[in-house]
Amino acid sequence: MTNNAIQDIHQEKILILDFGSQYTQLIARRVREIGVYCEIHPYDSSETLLSEFAPKGIILSGGPESVTAEGGPRAPAGIFDAGVPVLGICYGMQTMAAQLGGTVEGSDTQEFGYARVALEEASSLLEDFHDEVEDDQKYLDVWMSHGDKVVTLPPGFRCIASTPSCPYAAISHEERHLYGVQFHPEVIHTLQGESILRRFLLDICDCAGVWTPANIVASLIDTVREQVGEDRVLLGLSGGVDSSVVAALLSRAIGKQLTCVFVDNGLLRLNERQQVEEMFQNASDNVFDLNMITVDASDEFLERLSGVESPEDKRKIIGNTFIEVFDRESHRLEGVKYLAQGTIYPDVIESAGNKGGKAHVIKSHHNVGGLPDYMKLELVEPLRELFKDEVRKIGLELGLPQEIVGRHPFPGPGLGVRILGEVKKDYCDILRRADDIFISELRKAGLYDKVSQAFAVFLPVKSVGVVGDARRYEYVIALRAVETIDFMTARWAHLPYELLETVSSRIINEIAHISRVTYDVSSKPPATIEWE
Ligand code: XMP
Repeated sequence: MTNNAIQDIHQEKILILDFGSQYTQLIARRVREIGVYCEIHPYDSSETLLSEFAPKGIILSGGPESVTAEGGPRAPAGIFDAGVPVLGICYGMQTMAAQLGGTVEGSDTQEFGYARVALEEASSLLEDFHDEVEDDQKYLDVWMSHGDKVVTLPPGFRCIASTPSCPYAAISHEERHLYGVQFHPEVIHTLQGESILRRFLLDICDCAGVWTPANIVASLIDTVREQVGEDRVLLGLSGGVDSSVVAALLSRAIGKQLTCVFVDNGLLRLNERQQVEEMFQNASDNVFDLNMITVDASDEFLERLSGVESPEDKRKIIGNTFIEVFDRESHRLEGVKYLAQGTIYPDVIESAGNKGGKAHVIKSHHNVGGLPDYMKLELVEPLRELFKDEVRKIGLELGLPQEIVGRHPFPGPGLGVRILGEVKKDYCDILRRADDIFISELRKAGLYDKVSQAFAVFLPVKSVGVVGDARRYEYVIALRAVETIDFMTARWAHLPYELLETVSSRIINEIAHISRVTYDVSSKPPATIEWE
């Protein structure tokens, strides 16, 4: 029952071949922001990928290896002759040059960070772009990161940009539509980076840019309706961004065929349950037409956590209890055939074991993903193709407020991993209030959206303080705020001292059981973002 008026959002696709760069996902996000659907596949994907995927263009990512090393990764044979434009970035450019008859060598001078490249011969990729002009020479301000460099061009290629230490900083073969840049157009420090990518995608690859929030929403609604038909769908709603967007989307697609189960595990933030209920259960204006059940299982969770100190044990208990409660509730519902999940594209890439994926399990993450086989529900995962920023955009498109779609990530085990050691109800209550003070002050200062994640942590150690004339011997709260792109690495946020002072004094004055507030100045690595 496909509606013909709906744009096919996959009609034009870009294939990104991943050589393991830390920027590969960023390239994909930039391509999508420009309005073109793309997928990341490992560089050694099957030979048939190209014909099956039928891209309008190919991007070769950077990577940590050296093209000069024997057996180094190579792009699949044939992609340069497929008649499809190719853009090689960093390692991608070097392997393209080496594979087509040029040479690459290790360099004495490595370039990392800001660089100024001089524009050389005219090219369809860089024409009209420059940041500076000096003595009639045009320059681009770019972000470089390379050890090796191309030293001789393959036949038919021309040099379109250079730096003193990298004579071929950008190259092109105009007739074959093959392009290489040694710098990173996907990084914001490359000032013309977006324009360069836009030029490649919209002009060179001739994409129209149909990957827009409105088109995505229309298409997802259509796909869900087709998949689910008249059947009933169950969703574990956590109040986080992803599951809220799934709820909003499914309510638009299938209305009351959807039942959301919200489990109050006692480890939620202040007023979180009320917020979710107001949003989805009591939607007075009936924006979201769905069934919602709240299960108060907080006693059950807290009882099982009693006396447990190890972070991994706590995670497992919380995860397993969630599954039990959810399973119990779902058995009360009749005729449910599907389970909806807020799986997003980075989860898909990571679980596909892409090159460069995390090698060690640092923490076991428990999401709804771990439901047992016996539940026998088929999955509906409408956000599987989307990055987090796209999920946020379609959330807004669906009418969710900015406060919900712009929310920082909150871990599945909730406050359970923000109370060090044993979890107790009293500790949860204290932490909820401290966290709320921190977050509301951060919002008031206009900094909430500038940091990637911020929260308070409860430390069950006592320290001495003096409040008024009285001695206080109470607990410690640590504040944590980080800036990050991908949550794999993070820098502690340099919040203004005045803000920290206000938060600290409010927490100590307003919460009797706190005598001291500290600010966490650890980056990831070596620390992780959560304390447990
Ligand atoms: P870490 O602490 O590993 O956190 O540096 C990275 C990101 O993951 C979130 N996180 C979790 N999310 N279940 C989740 O759903 C978990 O068990 C969990 N542990 C950490 C964390 O909040 C941060 O955004």
